[in-house]
Amino acid sequence: MTPIRIDVATGESRYSVLIGPGVSRTLRTLLEEAGVGSGRLVVSNARVWRLHGQRLRGIGSRPKPTLIGDGERAKTLATVAGLYRACVRERLDRSSAIVALGGGVVGDVAGFAAATYLRGLTLVQVPTTLLAQVDSSIGGKVGVNLPAGKNLVGSFHAPRLVVCDPDVLDTLTRREFQAGLYEVLKYGIIASRPLFERVAATLPAIVHRETTALTPLIADCCRIKVTVVSADERESGLRRTLNFGHTVGHALEAITGYRRLRHGEAIGYGMLAAIHLSVARGLVSRADAAFMSETIHRLGPLPSVTDLSMRHVLDAVTRDKKVLNGRLHFVLARGIGDTQITTDIRPTELTAALRAIGLKR
Ligand SMILES: NC(=O)c1ccc[n+]([C@@H]2O[C@H](COP(=O)([O-])OP(=O)(O)OC[C@H]3O[C@@H](n4cnc5c(N)ncnc54)[C@H](O)[C@@H]3O)[C@@H](O)[C@H]2O)c1
Ligand SMILES: [Zn+2]
Repeated sequence: MTPIRIDVATGESRYSVLIGPGVSRTLRTLLEEAGVGSGRLVVSNARVWRLHGQRLRGIGSRPKPTLIGDGERAKTLATVAGLYRACVRERLDRSSAIVALGGGVVGDVAGFAAATYLRGLTLVQVPTTLLAQVDSSIGGKVGVNLPAGKNLVGSFHAPRLVVCDPDVLDTLTRREFQAGLYEVLKYGIIASRPLFERVAATLPAIVHRETTALTPLIADCCRIKVTVVSADERESGLRRTLNFGHTVGHALEAITGYRRLRHGEAIGYGMLAAIHLSVARGLVSRADAAFMSETIHRLGPLPSVTDLSMRHVLDAVTRDKKVLNGRLHFVLARGIGDTQITTDIRPTELTAALRAIGLKR
């Protein structure tokens, strides 16, 4: 099957996103076609490499990849320093490339090393989680966490090539896969009613990870992200609509120490809260709101948040970087596929929305 190709042109960067079952197995040819030099550092983690490393055999300058730790804990400057050491060891030069095989963590860390080593190496992303395929591998944001907070250090560094192979999603845990689906629904809500309706109509096939259902879905999400990001490469205006569900979502993640909820799950709650605010403001019809909320619930149960304190969430929301000049910026839904940014959400309105998603005290 010929992969779906999405060509991206934003600012100075030009790259292609290729999506299709089996496409990761053709990476060697794709790298040659994209003119990626032969000095290549392959970065992954042990789990992903064990499951899917054979797809990238023979890609790197050395047979062995450079492995980083698993999960958010590995998204640090110390990990980046380890990658710099590998770059030196492998004598990478300005014509060299870093190939990232993994989820958002591997992509962000390897991407940040690529953005900064020798002031910029070529970056190739081979995302292996649903979240990374529809979100983090596209748009050029790379970076790491500091003890003081998430994603505090970073850069914009567009990839040369992004290769999304839905086959690799087979080995994801049910929970990781489901977490990515919340972001898929988000794209529907912010930009495409047909996408949203298709997810709702074909949910069983999607949950079974049938590539015939997944391939067009990933492609649609990538197209939406690419369109939004190219229109507005630095964070502002249109790009903010990508934050639908993220104001409350980030707050829930932060006050639970990033341990209880996967990012996508937090966004599931955040979207439910944003839909509630949208209904309360009379922006969206009750029928559309009910359809959106029901579909979010249909993805499966979310970890409980009933014990969390309203006050803690409100504090975390106001600390979030999306507060500009002391006002709460919220992306609200006007319909399915249509949003608006509201800058004057009052704490009482937010409290009602938090109660609607299950917070009690
Ligand atoms: N750069 C951006 O624009 C952007 C956007 C969204 C999120 N992010 C970042 O992405 C990160 C989250 O990414 P994530 O959700 O992919 O998490 P992750 O990279 O931690 O991956 C989740 C888990 O799945 C495992 N895994 C990955 N691929 C697998 C596969 N095919 N089979 C089995 N297991 C697999 C990983 O080892 C890990 O344990 C966060 O750090 C977030 O800040 C960045
Ligand atoms: Zn997100």
